[in-house]
Amino acid sequence: MSSESGHPIGGETPFEVEYAQRVYRLPPYMFGRINALLYEKRVAGHDVIDLGMGNPSDPPQEFVMEKMCEAVRDERNHGYSKSNGIRNLRREVAGKYLKKYGVRLDPESEVIACLGSKEGFSHMCLALMGPGDTAIVPAPYFPVHTYAVALASGNVIALEVGDSEKFLQNIAYTCEHLYPKPKLLILCYPHNPSTVTVEPEFFVEVVKLAKRYGFMVISDFAYADVAFDGYKPPSFLSAPGASSVGVEFTTMSKGYNMAGWRVGFCAGNAEMIKGLATIKGYYDYGMFQAIQIAAIVALREGDAAVEEQSKIYESRRDVLVDGLTRLGWGVTPPKAGMFVWAKIPEVWMQRMNTMDFAMMLLEKGDVAVSPGSGFGPCGEGYVRMAMVENEERLRQAVRQIGRCLKQEEKELVGTQG
Ligand SMILES: Cc1ncc(COP(=O)(O)O)c(C=O)c1O
Repeated sequence: MSSESGHPIGGETPFEVEYAQRVYRLPPYMFGRINALLYEKRVAGHDVIDLGMGNPSDPPQEFVMEKMCEAVRDERNHGYSKSNGIRNLRREVAGKYLKKYGVRLDPESEVIACLGSKEGFSHMCLALMGPGDTAIVPAPYFPVHTYAVALASGNVIALEVGDSEKFLQNIAYTCEHLYPKPKLLILCYPHNPSTVTVEPEFFVEVVKLAKRYGFMVISDFAYADVAFDGYKPPSFLSAPGASSVGVEFTTMSKGYNMAGWRVGFCAGNAEMIKGLATIKGYYDYGMFQAIQIAAIVALREGDAAVEEQSKIYESRRDVLVDGLTRLGWGVTPPKAGMFVWAKIPEVWMQRMNTMDFAMMLLEKGDVAVSPGSGFGPCGEGYVRMAMVENEERLRQAVRQIGRCLKQEEKELVGTQG
């Protein structure tokens, strides 16, 4: 109880909530400033073009939504479901792996459904990592890859992902020199945020390293379904022996436009999956069954729609890359994924850091992008743009960025006399 002035009555010490140490171990959340300004602008009625988050804006296929409605009306689907996913869903995932990647999986022991791949990934880290354990994470890093390890009380070594050959060498070097050796390697191809891709041979080398040094592997394959110019992102599990050392996470959030539905999967090493299933069994009762039933239909009949969606991203990529190139930015067109990872023009890098640059684009240009520094120090000097707006809006975004930078340049030159 406190008086109107807020002081405790009768000299009582104020009650304090103290979080567990694992919360204090989390790295600072770098997108807070951007998100706060974005919210302010929206509330003030600004039409901000939001290229910040990889949150698909297109709807799922009509037949998937229809199936969902039908399943919702079925009274049998409203109880607790299975925490590892219903059998037919796991079978569908195994079927997709066989058809698309030639990988044979036992749906009973080698596939599990998760409440989005982020949930599965985080709980897998909780199952595998503990105090004193180290994970190698690709840098710049998708924040969850570090947060999940930190929350599990593990340590992170971030290795640059840009040059795949060098990345492999650095993994070997780290294993030779770190004591105790890393316990886990986290991979993500097509990589978020850098858009780096690999060929199947890369994973063959990873499996060899994993066996030589005894680390486990988690492949985050979130962008499996979004690829351009005929490129086919390889699955880690198609490398010989991959299932003996690791697992792979896939999701229906990206290619299927079902991000809000929270449907993800983990497949591969049965022991690792058992660890995840154990944690999940304590924490959740599984995904809403109607969602699982609609997901089965989407996986079974949705290939054409997924390809079509990929083509949409490909056209958006062309619009965005062409536009930025015309503004004088040096941008490498991505071969896959939902992002353009753009180097900030040199003149601007000399003037301000990446966070301030992104804040300026939002403040003055009404375009939200993710500052590269939000993905760790390796991301400094870059911004990530998600291709989640349509082509017209992307053209408009480029115009607004161009106008904003021109205006700022004029003002800066003006103040310098
Ligand atoms: C690399 C990567 N992994 C995982 C996720 C999360 O996917 P889900 O919606 O399945 O949790 C994302 C989403 O942005 C991502 O970019």
